[in-house]
Amino acid sequence: MNKFKILIITVSLFAGSALAAGMTLYKSPYCGCCKAWAKHVEQAGFEVTIIEQANNNQLHKENGITQNLASCHSAIIEGYVIEGHVPVADIQRLLKEKPAITGLAVPGMPASSPGMDVPGNTDPYQVIAFSKDGGKSVYSEYNFPVEE
Ligand code: CU
Ligand code: CU
Repeated sequence: MNKFKILIITVSLFAGSALAAGMTLYKSPYCGCCKAWAKHVEQAGFEVTIIEQANNNQLHKENGITQNLASCHSAIIEGYVIEGHVPVADIQRLLKEKPAITGLAVPGMPASSPGMDVPGNTDPYQVIAFSKDGGKSVYSEYNFPVEE
């Protein structure tokens, strides 16, 4: 593989989460917001296994995650790729509806997204449904002003 040491840490085994799907989270050892996002997902009952690696370049390449979709961490759950600070509600909807896409992404690191949670910040952001072949659509959006 590569020279970087890969650490595998099973973060938690929630009581009563036997039915919840397991997620594998790939992150750099130096990323703190990734851990905060993992906590957000765990609070919804998902089991998260963290794999630390220097970067997710290979994973990005294999899954069609271009620069304008990329974020600080990538996760895999039931064959879907979750890129960045995607709210757990969107993951739950994804697993329920099972659309024919590669995954969901919140590009960059919006300050108001789960795991970033910058106090008082309400920057709008979108969750993008993407496909390996380059297909993209808006899956949901947050903090966009309601039009009257
Ligand atoms: Cu982040
Ligand atoms: Cu992250």
